[in-house]
Amino acid sequence: MERNGNTNGARHGHEVLEHDILIIGAGGAGLRAAIAATQRGLSVGVVTKSLLGKAHTVMAEGGVAAALGNVDSEDGWQTHFMDTLKAGKFLNNWRMAELFAKEAPDRVYELEQWGALFNRTPEGKISQRPFGAHTYTRLCHVGDRTGLEMIRTLQERTLATEAKVYMETSVTKLFQNDEGRVVGALAYTREAGKFIHFKAKAVIVATGGWGRIYKVTSNSWEGTGDGVVLAYNAGAELVDMEMVQFHPTGMVWPPGVRGLLVTEGVRGEGGFLRNSDGERFMENYDAERMELSSRDVVARANYTEVTEGRGSEHGGVFLDITHLGYNGIMKKLPTMYEQFLKLADIDISKEPMEVFPTIHYTMGGIKVDPETCATNVPGLYAAGEVGGGLHGANRLGGNSLSDLLVFGRRAGEGAAEYVKGNGYSAEIESSVVEDEKKRVVHPLERQDGDENPFHLQQELQEAMMEHANLMRNEDSLKEGLGKILAIKDRLPNVKVHGSTLFNPGWHASQDIHNLVQVSEIIVRAALERTERRGAQWRLDYDGPDDELGKINFIVKRDQQGEAGIEKREIPPMPDHLSRLFDDGDDKHGGEQGGKESQF
Ligand code: FUM
Repeated sequence: MERNGNTNGARHGHEVLEHDILIIGAGGAGLRAAIAATQRGLSVGVVTKSLLGKAHTVMAEGGVAAALGNVDSEDGWQTHFMDTLKAGKFLNNWRMAELFAKEAPDRVYELEQWGALFNRTPEGKISQRPFGAHTYTRLCHVGDRTGLEMIRTLQERTLATEAKVYMETSVTKLFQNDEGRVVGALAYTREAGKFIHFKAKAVIVATGGWGRIYKVTSNSWEGTGDGVVLAYNAGAELVDMEMVQFHPTGMVWPPGVRGLLVTEGVRGEGGFLRNSDGERFMENYDAERMELSSRDVVARANYTEVTEGRGSEHGGVFLDITHLGYNGIMKKLPTMYEQFLKLADIDISKEPMEVFPTIHYTMGGIKVDPETCATNVPGLYAAGEVGGGLHGANRLGGNSLSDLLVFGRRAGEGAAEYVKGNGYSAEIESSVVEDEKKRVVHPLERQDGDENPFHLQQELQEAMMEHANLMRNEDSLKEGLGKILAIKDRLPNVKVHGSTLFNPGWHASQDIHNLVQVSEIIVRAALERTERRGAQWRLDYDGPDDELGKINFIVKRDQQGEAGIEKREIPPMPDHLSRLFDDGDDKHGGEQGGKESQF
């Protein structure tokens, strides 16, 4: 290990650490990538701004989607593939969806071999439950703690490898050599405020999503979009960033827990949605699938019921699972029982829950090669929620967990292959490191400046909530963009007090740049997609636009440092995949080939 003192007049020294592959993020995708890369004999560092085991992965509670066919033997990868594309309104990268649907079962069985304690069918197979818009009963689950069990399993497996985990460490910049290859990153420890220059021959970004740009979200404090902005600043292409998922059911009461996830597993186990008139209102939105319609449809239905005055006392709709009774709930949904009892003083075996949509997931993200998860920037890989392409305009519940397993592994292997084939040096000019350290400490050390990063974040969250919600229109999006740009103009004046020792204000002064940048990109892309498609529901347009249904919006930083947007045609699906839809479904027409409500 090399140490670097106070060089170039900078007051802050830094440590230099070296790995073949640096993985940023220790959720499911980061850990699965670490396992894959260490299996190839490489040195791997995993950096997480949080604690190991604490990741948004745990918020995918209801299950991991994989066509095992344990409950419905008719299921197979083909149906899972088609469901994924239909739900994503065909904006999906079809090759990613193909690999995903084919490989998800193996990734689940692998987890089982590594010790994940899945619920069981009476014959002892991994149990599966229904979930919204999955044709078959497909969600392998561990009660309503599936993500938690997956993280636990992956964490144990990772700790058994040679990978080194750096907890409570934030990455501020990716370093690139003269050829533009990513060759490391600058990070700082959140507790002690010490800088680390990580040298690496490849970097995998697995930092999850950016739900914290909104006020009401299921995301914990970590979801600030660091990874997507690190990649964007390094020149990576982003895809379909306008697509942000509102999960239909978050808690609404008490205010301190507003947005906390209420798993789709409740509806999977037969939960009903009712409005204040007692009406099972999903009949009006998707009479065929009812509560198990796709997430975008159920979220809009819940939102509409409340905004049209049929909501509950605290501004939600009612979700009722009382028919399962106490024993049934404790068997299938114990976390929900405890969550409502402890946080809201509601016994869900006796009373319905109040729920309302909450920001949960981001379908858009860093564009990757389906086989290797390589981005367009040499040496840079991405996997999990921060990656884009698989889910198109709307993600199916449970597909996030299988996504991170399939593409976490592929990213680890892809980066390992790249490192083994490239013997270049990870050196960069020391001035690049010093300049970045100075930038990061500037809000602390400057004498002037009067903007508080927490206030800016609050203003941003309110603007996104008001103008980039689950129903959007041009005037409101433009107004929102104006507010975001006004906040962006204030960023150079951010000032925080105290030292680099555990200092939440200083951390916020870093996060706010990422939050603002990703919000601007989302709103710009949402202005461009002039149609109703999945999560992008433009009230100023009547429905989907056939031409835009063949287009991905690619965002890339241009020469001036601004977000440039390109419309890129989706390549035609090969025959072996397009034939799957040939039994009457219209690939680019209705939301579900005409079967689903256009709501
Ligand atoms: O509702 C849920 O349990 C969430 C699952 C997911 O986002 O995949």
